[in-house]
Amino acid sequence: MTSIALSSAAPTGLKVDAVVVGVAPGDGDVVLLPGSETLDKALKGSLARLLGQLGATGKADEVTKLPAMGAAKAGLLVAVGTGPLAEAGTPARHESLRRAAGAAARALAGQQSAAVALPVLDEADAAAVAEGIALGAYTFDQYKSGDPTTPVESVTLIGPGVKAKGVKEAVTRAETVAAAVNRARDWVNIPPRDLTPATFADAATKLARSAKLDIEVLDEKALAKGGYGGLIGVGQGSANPPRLVRVAYRPSRAKKHVAFVGKGITFDSGGLSLKPADSMVEMKSDMSGAAAVVAAVHAIAQLGTKVAVTAYAAMAENMPSGSAQRPSDVITIYGGKTVEVLNTDAEGRLVLADGIVRAAEDEPDLIIDVATLTGAAVVALGKRVSGIMANDDDLGAKIHDVAGRSGEAMWPLPLPVELREKLDSPIADIANIGDRWGGALQAGLFLQEFVADGIGWAHLDIAGPAFSDKAHGYTPKGGTGAAVRTLVRLVEDVADGAL
Ligand code: BES
Ligand code: MN
Ligand code: ZN
Repeated sequence: MTSIALSSAAPTGLKVDAVVVGVAPGDGDVVLLPGSETLDKALKGSLARLLGQLGATGKADEVTKLPAMGAAKAGLLVAVGTGPLAEAGTPARHESLRRAAGAAARALAGQQSAAVALPVLDEADAAAVAEGIALGAYTFDQYKSGDPTTPVESVTLIGPGVKAKGVKEAVTRAETVAAAVNRARDWVNIPPRDLTPATFADAATKLARSAKLDIEVLDEKALAKGGYGGLIGVGQGSANPPRLVRVAYRPSRAKKHVAFVGKGITFDSGGLSLKPADSMVEMKSDMSGAAAVVAAVHAIAQLGTKVAVTAYAAMAENMPSGSAQRPSDVITIYGGKTVEVLNTDAEGRLVLADGIVRAAEDEPDLIIDVATLTGAAVVALGKRVSGIMANDDDLGAKIHDVAGRSGEAMWPLPLPVELREKLDSPIADIANIGDRWGGALQAGLFLQEFVADGIGWAHLDIAGPAFSDKAHGYTPKGGTGAAVRTLVRLVEDVADGAL
């Protein structure tokens, strides 16, 4: 990963390949943001005009490159638009800085070193810039045979504020969190022939061991023996059998216990309720929830947050075959509830049900499940916003706030009790589909049936944001690592007693 250093030197004197400054929209020319003063001075005050001539407007995601023309030791100047910047201490400001840093990092691919002189007023600004750089520099080229463009190797954050107390710690945290997001992205991007439930479970095991976390993997035999009918049912059509992975972090003196449950469908063909060709292509990303929960518990352990966390990753491949489950089959979820499987493409809720019931056995205070669960959530909220559903409105509101502070767009959706009857089955305890209307909510209501009484539960439907069709800000094309940052921050809030 890109290494990040801190310096209070002037950007003009640093021996780097490129210098990044921020620009915001102005009345005429762009407004040069703090950090660019020495450069502008070296250019005799012409920087804003030069950038204007090159078409810069200062809007978000805009990158303008120009030769330094002797104004700095670096050969290249990069002006990145921030859009209008909000006041210090606001999530909106942090997200603008994060996105600008990310866009700059993407534009720096191929350069070895850079100095980033964005307007850093405090440690939260510095953390946002560091996070944006580490996330924006992400590339996935394992499957390219040629010379890949390498991400920028080292970045120095500069500005008068970066040497202040607390900045170093905040930047280290940002690097840890970004590494976790990038790890989740890698797992999502690996093609499904290489990331099967077994290889995914192996990768999770390796990661957990490296941090001395407890790890338990149930294979198909153990799952069948244990009565995990959701994972067995969904996985039975595939040559790649299912797994349930449990990763536990148990710090000393933890007062609370949070459980994560992630949907880990390594490929979702729909099963016998086969998806149309176009809808199938992105379905290697259907394990994004599992990737997020495993990466998040590892990051939380690295940060040493004083909360017990257990991540359950419910992994299966949903394929059609002679051994696949059929629409109208009845399966028994872990714990005994029966489900009539009317549509084999509504498989995520089946594996999550097993995971949620299992999670409750460990008696957590809170269960958060994360899943690319419904196309309906994408219809409702689009590709950039995840849905939050919870069995307690206050919990939903708190997660909304946590997500906002993490730079992740998530929005509360209701769980209307009246919709529950759509899932009534004439022969089993519940059916796995209802009708079209409010499909994301019906999926949420299905999951709620499996949450033990008295446990706070929230469900994050990340179907839209988990996979991006284009690069923007600090988000690459492909797997995004959605929900990792929110999960880490949420557990930190639990540790602080705020949740
Ligand atoms: N993995 C899909 C949901 C999905 C759709 C994720 C688009 C990302 C992008 C899920 O398993 C699924 O197929 N859901 C069905 C449910 C339906 C059959 C009730 C859907 O949304 O169509
Ligand atoms: Mn499906
Ligand atoms: Zn799915």
